[in-house]
Amino acid sequence: MRRRSINQQFPLLTGDHQTDVLVIGGGITGLSTALELLSRGVKVTVCEANTIGAGTTGGSSGHLDAHPEQGPSRLIEQLGAEGAKSLTEARLRAIDLIEKRCDESCSFGRVPAYFYTERRENLDAICNSFQDAKKIGLDANWMENVPISRAIVGYQINHMAKIDCLAYVKRLAALVAEYGGRIFEHTMVSGPVEAKPSSLQTSGGTVAFDQVVCAVHCNYTNSQRLYLQTPAYQSYVIAAKVRAALPDALFWDDSDPYHYVRRATADGRTILVGGQDHRTGNGDEPVALRALESWTRERFDVEEIVSQWSAELFEPSDGLPFIGKVAGTENVWIATGLSGIGLTLGTVSASMIADLMEGKQHPLEDHLSPARTPIGSVSTVVAEQLPAAMNFAQRIWPAQSVDVEQLSAGEGTVGKLHDKHTAVCRDQTGCVHKLSPICTHMGGVLRWNPVEQTWDCPVHGGRFAADGKRLYGPPETDLDEA
Ligand SMILES: Cc1cc2nc3c(=O)[nH]c(=O)nc-3n(C[C@H](O)[C@H](O)[C@H](O)COP(=O)(O)OP(=O)(O)OC[C@H]3O[C@@H](n4cnc5c(N)ncnc54)[C@H](O)[C@@H]3O)c2cc1C
Ligand code: FES
Repeated sequence: MRRRSINQQFPLLTGDHQTDVLVIGGGITGLSTALELLSRGVKVTVCEANTIGAGTTGGSSGHLDAHPEQGPSRLIEQLGAEGAKSLTEARLRAIDLIEKRCDESCSFGRVPAYFYTERRENLDAICNSFQDAKKIGLDANWMENVPISRAIVGYQINHMAKIDCLAYVKRLAALVAEYGGRIFEHTMVSGPVEAKPSSLQTSGGTVAFDQVVCAVHCNYTNSQRLYLQTPAYQSYVIAAKVRAALPDALFWDDSDPYHYVRRATADGRTILVGGQDHRTGNGDEPVALRALESWTRERFDVEEIVSQWSAELFEPSDGLPFIGKVAGTENVWIATGLSGIGLTLGTVSASMIADLMEGKQHPLEDHLSPARTPIGSVSTVVAEQLPAAMNFAQRIWPAQSVDVEQLSAGEGTVGKLHDKHTAVCRDQTGCVHKLSPICTHMGGVLRWNPVEQTWDCPVHGGRFAADGKRLYGPPETDLDEA
């Protein structure tokens, strides 16, 4: 079993359409932004390339927390105590707001969260982290007996929450429609490239607007700097039926990348376990999934693996999201680099962008500005770009010939076919697809992802179906036939 399928609820956009604000993307970020603007009397149109919830929000594990991913101590180093407190308070307010917007379909529940270590040598680090967690405004208690297998010590953070993300994104869409917003599904918008665009082309017509918000998760402007600063990662989730119930709480360990765990069902006998993140198109997907399963089996008495899936996230090079006006533009806004905490950050983005559009000041405006100089080492950004640089080099490397007859169902590869670089796969139904291996965004060389059965672009995380149809990320068009 994989992610739940999502039916179309809203029409396609056709002809010429006019609005105050065009929001591109119908995930938690786009729909929360639309709702925030509508509540301030602004006319809003949301265009979604696929269906509402088809993006990462629908594949998220639904932890709602305000603990910084880089840790409280690092956040204080980056933003100072006041800035770190502001960001934490904004995320706490986001959880309250999400709670207010939920109905019973969203399965919202308040639960404690535990940040813990399995390694005694990390005791000092986690102790410092605990002291700083309290400084940034988290209601935290030290715990010698964190209620999860193999934990040594950690701390509990009170008043965090869990949610059914797909139900919540549908709820947001219903609220947007109720407040008079227009939503169009299967309506792909071309990314803004001008300093002050006043209309954009969609797959079915045009939209004229005063302001445009790019809420497509990744960068969707012509800022090369933003692409460099928000590399794409893939994270995996397993739903497992276990013999002993897990306490009703959120858990993260301190490994890098970290593992995250919570109950998936009310009785605690089915749990969600996530982690094993790696750069999109640059890891061994089946190995990552097997490693996550082993990690789960080593800690829980697993009766059955119920389902497993992966989705993409965009990791900011300095650990802080990019929210605000795009550098060098007059009316283009963005929220990207939301990392693995985008449910709260996407909600924070909405009120921040709405405030800034109204000309109000926001305490996080400079810290999170897409125009800021990242607070991180240049070496981190350079190291992150090595896979992309290596990828472009593959265009000129000699390639092995592909023997199509040798490909089993579900297998794919890039190689020479009739003397031409070709992406060839045999899909699960046995049908063979022969495609251009060159990503339609900026020419990355694609890689077959056997877990997702997709062609993935290691450069900026573009993703295409086995038959070449564009699925996700910055590309706007399908792959060409070979
Ligand atoms: C496996 C996994 C687990 C996670 N778990 C958590 C968690 O527990 N808690 C947490 O806080 N965060 C979590 N995250 C991160 C979080 O899910 C994301 O940060 C968040 O969902 C991003 O929301 P979004 O609305 O920005 O993007 P999306 O939900 O991806 O929405 C963007 C939408 O834009 C659409 N789009 C793209 N291009 C266009 C275009 N040109 N025109 C029109 N529409 C377009 C897409 O189809 C998509 O529907 C997780 C991430 C992953 C990968
Ligand atoms: S080159 Fe940008 S997603 Fe492929």
